Amino acid sequence: MADAQSARPPRSQMAPPVNLFLFGAHGDLVKRLLIPSLYNLTRDGLVGEALHIIGVDHNKVSDEAYRDKLAEFMQSQADKSKPQGEGDSSAGLDPALWKRLAERTTYLEGDFLDEGTYQAIARRIEASGTNNAIFYLATAPRFFCEVITRLAQAGLLKEGDDQFRRVVVEKPFGSDLKTAEELNAGILAVMDERQVYRIDHYLGKETVQNILVSRFANGLFEAFWNNHYVDHVQITAAETVGVEQRGNFYERTGALRDMVPNHLFQLLAMVAMEPPAAFGADAVRSEKAKVIAAIRPQSPDEARRNSVRGQYSAGDVGGTQVAGYRQEPRVAPDSCTETYAALKLWVDNWRWAGVPFYLRTGKRLSVRNTEIAICFKPAPMSPFRDTHVHGMRPNYLIIQIQPDEGMWFDFQAKRPGTTLEIDNVQMGFAYADFFAMRPSTGYETLLYDCMIGDQTLFQRADNIENGWRAVQPFLDAWQGCTDVHTYPAGTDGPQAADELLKRDGRAWHSLK
Ligand code: BG6
Repeated sequence: MADAQSARPPRSQMAPPVNLFLFGAHGDLVKRLLIPSLYNLTRDGLVGEALHIIGVDHNKVSDEAYRDKLAEFMQSQADKSKPQGEGDSSAGLDPALWKRLAERTTYLEGDFLDEGTYQAIARRIEASGTNNAIFYLATAPRFFCEVITRLAQAGLLKEGDDQFRRVVVEKPFGSDLKTAEELNAGILAVMDERQVYRIDHYLGKETVQNILVSRFANGLFEAFWNNHYVDHVQITAAETVGVEQRGNFYERTGALRDMVPNHLFQLLAMVAMEPPAAFGADAVRSEKAKVIAAIRPQSPDEARRNSVRGQYSAGDVGGTQVAGYRQEPRVAPDSCTETYAALKLWVDNWRWAGVPFYLRTGKRLSVRNTEIAICFKPAPMSPFRDTHVHGMRPNYLIIQIQPDEGMWFDFQAKRPGTTLEIDNVQMGFAYADFFAMRPSTGYETLLYDCMIGDQTLFQRADNIENGWRAVQPFLDAWQGCTDVHTYPAGTDGPQAADELLKRDGRAWHSLK
């Protein structure tokens, strides 16, 4: 998905030489996602000898101890995912492959706020044989601007003909419109937008990238992709997990901030955007910015009426008894933080005028299911008078993001027999039937794209701000504890969320 005008290596080629500095080297993100992704990129021949990985953090450990710690974690994950009864316990992790990656991984002890750390980084770059550097901020958000400012002060963000300097910023990017604007202003005061790679890991998912391909590589869908045929759109990200050990973070964040302006809006943008003129970063991101900017602002009263927030109580998820949110570690016993959010939005443009978009996300729901359900208008009249056909279900196109990745059409067919009866059937495409998917974390594409300089799958400053602008009315409306609806863990969310659609004569697409 590279810009046509720039001379970048083809996507199947080895990435250019680079020093990849991982700030927050001891954090979960690095060990769970970044190192496994770099391992997979090594396996696929997309990174090689010229990649230098440098973990940066304040703890004092040797290179060897750091590598051992990463190896131990990788091995434990490989053991966990290995099917029962398989032979040797090291089967999941290829020792030769790991060695190749480990040899290129070192550690730099340094305080993120100390000038000396940045001098040490400059020395590492000098000694590496390449001037290219990517600074990946896998840190707590309070360090984002601090680190970037210090990188700039140390002259480490200056680019030249023979060197690129890029910064990857993780989520959460701000906690509302004001903080996101401030963060963007702080970053863009010292570096160019071209150098900033704001991550939303949903964009690393194959199924999310496939939405654009399905829409724009096929003539078929465009014909009915508009308000003439679409009744409404539902976007769901249902999780069975609770807040786990992240109580501290989640208490300040809640489901709305955690999932909606970023992940769910990415899905909304992919479904609702206009065709870009080219598949390059500027064209794609401009279309996305336009569609998110077209989300109708709601007054506080409208926002209250068009939203539902919920919080899970104790319950049974897949046969396991689990605690309620208020009993989770590092959560206040009288917390009002929402673990479920449902919104009704409108995209005020020519294509979608009058089509509601219903979004929902929640933790500790009955199943894990991320999907987009496009619900079509009913047939203009029913010719089945005086038959056994009473009422017809709406047709849906389901874009299944995870698990069981694929796309399905739900429609009606005649049930075999002498009477005219109809039933609901499905026609579908499952990824697994067509493509051999190698194990991946979703971060591979994002890391690789950053190395080759393709920003298509990263958030531009205006995309981020438009997202916060669209949820701000709900953040403002959700003050205090009234209207936080409780739902037992293992169910499909609060009843009030069903009411949100019921009053429009609609229903949520079943989660199962
Ligand atoms: C993260 C949120 O950004 O996305 C988590 O902070 C959430 O709370 C996760 O669980 C969901 O990601 P995925 O890829 O499992 O759908």
